[in-house]
Amino acid sequence: MSYLKNLYWLKQIEVRRQCNESCVVVVVTNDRKRLVQLLKSDFVLRKHREVFWYDTVMGLWRIKCDGGRIYREPHYIGSAQQQSPIASLISRQQGLPRVPFDAFVNWMISEIFTLANARGSEQFEGYSRCFVITNVPPSAREYFSMTINALATADEPYLARVTIVVVTDCIEKILDPSVVENCIVVDVEPSTEEERRKLITEISNFLAKKGLKAPSNEEIKVLIDITRGLNLHDLETVLLESFVLKKRFDTDFIVQAKASIFAKSEVIEFVQSKYGFEAVGGYDYLKEYIKNTVIEPWRNRELAMELGLELPRGILLFGIQGTGKTWFTKALARELGIPMFKLGEIRSRWYGETESRLRRAFKILRASAPCILFIDEVDQIATARGSPQEHEVDRRVKNMLLEELGDAERNYIIVCTTNRPEDLDPAFIRRGRIDIIVPVLHPDFEARKQILRVHTSVVRRVPLAEDVDLDLIAEKTMFFTGAELEALVKMATQEAFKERKRRVYMKHFEIALQNFHKDIGREVQTIQHYLELADRFSTDRRFIEQVRRVYERELSRVREVTEYSRLEVSP
Ligand SMILES: Nc1ncnc2c1ncn2[C@@H]1O[C@H](COP(=O)(O)OP(=O)(O)O)[C@@H](O)[C@H]1O
Ligand SMILES: [Mg+2]
Repeated sequence: MSYLKNLYWLKQIEVRRQCNESCVVVVVTNDRKRLVQLLKSDFVLRKHREVFWYDTVMGLWRIKCDGGRIYREPHYIGSAQQQSPIASLISRQQGLPRVPFDAFVNWMISEIFTLANARGSEQFEGYSRCFVITNVPPSAREYFSMTINALATADEPYLARVTIVVVTDCIEKILDPSVVENCIVVDVEPSTEEERRKLITEISNFLAKKGLKAPSNEEIKVLIDITRGLNLHDLETVLLESFVLKKRFDTDFIVQAKASIFAKSEVIEFVQSKYGFEAVGGYDYLKEYIKNTVIEPWRNRELAMELGLELPRGILLFGIQGTGKTWFTKALARELGIPMFKLGEIRSRWYGETESRLRRAFKILRASAPCILFIDEVDQIATARGSPQEHEVDRRVKNMLLEELGDAERNYIIVCTTNRPEDLDPAFIRRGRIDIIVPVLHPDFEARKQILRVHTSVVRRVPLAEDVDLDLIAEKTMFFTGAELEALVKMATQEAFKERKRRVYMKHFEIALQNFHKDIGREVQTIQHYLELADRFSTDRRFIEQVRRVYERELSRVREVTEYSRLEVSP
């Protein structure tokens, strides 16, 4: 494992420990392989005379290095009799020295005090002892925070020259934020390109040795790319799984497996996008605008960067529900040929865990770049500052999002949606955070026609009878959203099915139409309201003028139609 040398994060720990910043190091990672790297590292093994590893489940071990060979042996602290019957049963079965958490902590502290009192008697270059602690139970958060705080601020651990390393995937779950400030915190990236290359090459060499077909260099390059964002443990699992189930490194399978691993993190989920702009009916002005301002620069980012052009990285789409904001973003991801992730539920039941989940999500996204992070209904996070209903956690989450949005280092796109842009914190839509703000209003006549076409012949193939006139349906569906048009097609199809017809006829659309009711006055108001908002928030005058023209045309159409129908009904 030559690549263990010079790992950036291990170096970081060593340097910061030497600067005496703190005797407590917190390593944030969810990767078992990182733990192994840590336990085998020069810093831990060579710089400390003795190394102990305590894990709530695995027990207490002494890690030893003997002529390059690293092994562990159980360490007994005479507290085995304190354990519960079930714990002793399990430990007897597994032959493990099951040590309760508080017994371990007591033992560690008394060791430290003994060493501190005997200082000077042990001549050793480096440090005396290293305690690596993993799997701290969240239920012990309060007790553990107190202990760590005491250790990080007391003299004894320094006199005893000990290092305490806590490994966790979520700092806030086990430590108070005020305690964390007294520790050295090292956030470890999931995997670097170099590490993935090493691991993939190792596995393919292993396959070759077994007489199995190893991937070509070209394939390895693709594998390194598509596995970005995975940690080393997951990477290994995914590759082996693919090999066992598919008999090769199947890129589709790996991409899927990666998505489900990310979904497990519960913070972001992978969104599959099947269609590009061809499945977005109408909205030509919007597609054209996004093509020029987003797609072209990102597709030619090397040239753009050479010219010092900044790539647009923050986009806000606003408009009422169902106008296709999510649909449009999926199509954008497809057009750019990059993966899309959706920010999931970030409120978590563990105090403070929300933040670390979000931090982990940002880390994964940066490692997966270029990609899109989609934040639906962003107003739920980024409401105006200091509103009374804002909770402490919400405020911190908002600030983290603001920071991420404005971070010049961010290498992926964030697309947000809202139907209430006026509620957003002005800091949020500042340039540099959100570069492009566009309204997505109701589809106009042309768009309705195209959406009907998309949902009868692109996304779904609905056999239409000859009497079906999409133009006429588009006329009759003024103020319908894309989502409602899609629903209309489904309902008409169901009507046809009820009659056991092989095709959908115009009358089925007529029946389906009766399910919808639109209050014209209100809808016109809504459109005008959003046009005003567009004026207020727009980042591009010329574009908004265009939008205005589309909707003025549409509204005058409305006036014509309503006048006409009034004429019709009047005696
Ligand atoms: N322009 C469009 N072209 C094709 N389908 C659309 C369009 N707009 C909306 N839809 C359909 O409506 C559904 C709901 O739209 P969605 O993107 O969820 O709306 P929003 O995110 O704005 O609430 C989509 O899944 C899609 O099938
Ligand atoms: Mg949506």
